[in-house]
Amino acid sequence: MNPLRPAILAAAASPRMKRVLTGTKVTADIVRRFVPGESRAELAPVVRALLDSGRLISVDYLGENTTDRARAEATVAEYLSLINELAAADMAVGSDGAAVPVEVSVKLSALGQALPGDGPAIATDNLRVVCTKAAEAGVWVTVDAEDHTTTDATLATVRELRPEFPWLGAVLQSYLHRTLDDCAEFAGPGSRIRLCKGAYREPATVAYQRNVEVTDSYLRCLETLMRGTGYPMVATHDPALVLAAERMVAETGRGTGTFEHQMLYGVRDAEQLRLAAAGHAMRVYVPYGDDWYGYLTRRLAERPANLRFFLRALVGR
Ligand code: FDA
Repeated sequence: MNPLRPAILAAAASPRMKRVLTGTKVTADIVRRFVPGESRAELAPVVRALLDSGRLISVDYLGENTTDRARAEATVAEYLSLINELAAADMAVGSDGAAVPVEVSVKLSALGQALPGDGPAIATDNLRVVCTKAAEAGVWVTVDAEDHTTTDATLATVRELRPEFPWLGAVLQSYLHRTLDDCAEFAGPGSRIRLCKGAYREPATVAYQRNVEVTDSYLRCLETLMRGTGYPMVATHDPALVLAAERMVAETGRGTGTFEHQMLYGVRDAEQLRLAAAGHAMRVYVPYGDDWYGYLTRRLAERPANLRFFLRALVGR
């Protein structure tokens, strides 16, 4: 984990910093590396090109921490239109037993989880609407993991909806102390778990702080998922973990259609293509929309080189 990450994420949370960063041309250039478009029209050719290159996709409509019910409903409406467009463009053709090419990723805090009172129930109802449309269109849905204060509510929503939508996936973060237990719970038949390291600023009371601890936890969690009967989604760009996944697949005798690799749009493109060419299911997480600030700052905080490039450009050197 980048040692500067907590400081970067803390600074990025300040409204003043947000005003400064969102107003610059430099930011717009960097955003484009990680977020290919603000609208569905800008997204469409990117999605097409990724699918044509043999990769699978998971599309995320950017937005989080909504405290406005109308905004949560607008997000649901956007997901319904997105799923319609993906299906209409014939991008969502699933096949028996193999990975469905098109998935959408959803943050429950964008669907109303943070609304006062019955936020988690509102988010669950909203997710049900999205999943119903996705089921009609043959698209998968995976629920993103946000900061640790939301984990219980998010997993409760996933547990509630999985009987209706058995392909509903969830993200687990290896930096959380609790995640090995969560992996054990979700390693059963049909369960789709996207395992990532985790991208938020978390206290030492709930999360490992050192790189080596996060990586060791990832290995233990992945082993649990690989030895289970679910469908692990190996979401990392870390070469050591990609290799470890291949080793575990061989050791557990899993076939190629029983797990997938996942990476973010704009990160390690050549490695994505290599894995796809080697016959692996390789899914790219593609965010779009104009609410990109939180997503961008997490990408900058992950890697000092991104931040140095950004700061140099900002001061014009
Ligand atoms: P690590 O950070 O060690 O990176 C390994 C190597 O990958 C780096 O050395 C570099 O080469 C490259 N790399 C990684 N990040 C980069 C970046 N931003 N820019 C350029 N190069 C980079 N997190 C979360 O909390 N909730 C979630 O729901 C998700 N969802 C999600 C989906 C998918 C498909 C992925 C791949 C990741 C997430 N994440 C996430 C983010 C995740 O938690 C983590 O922060 C990043 O993947 C970075 O961790 P790595 O495992 O890649 O290792």
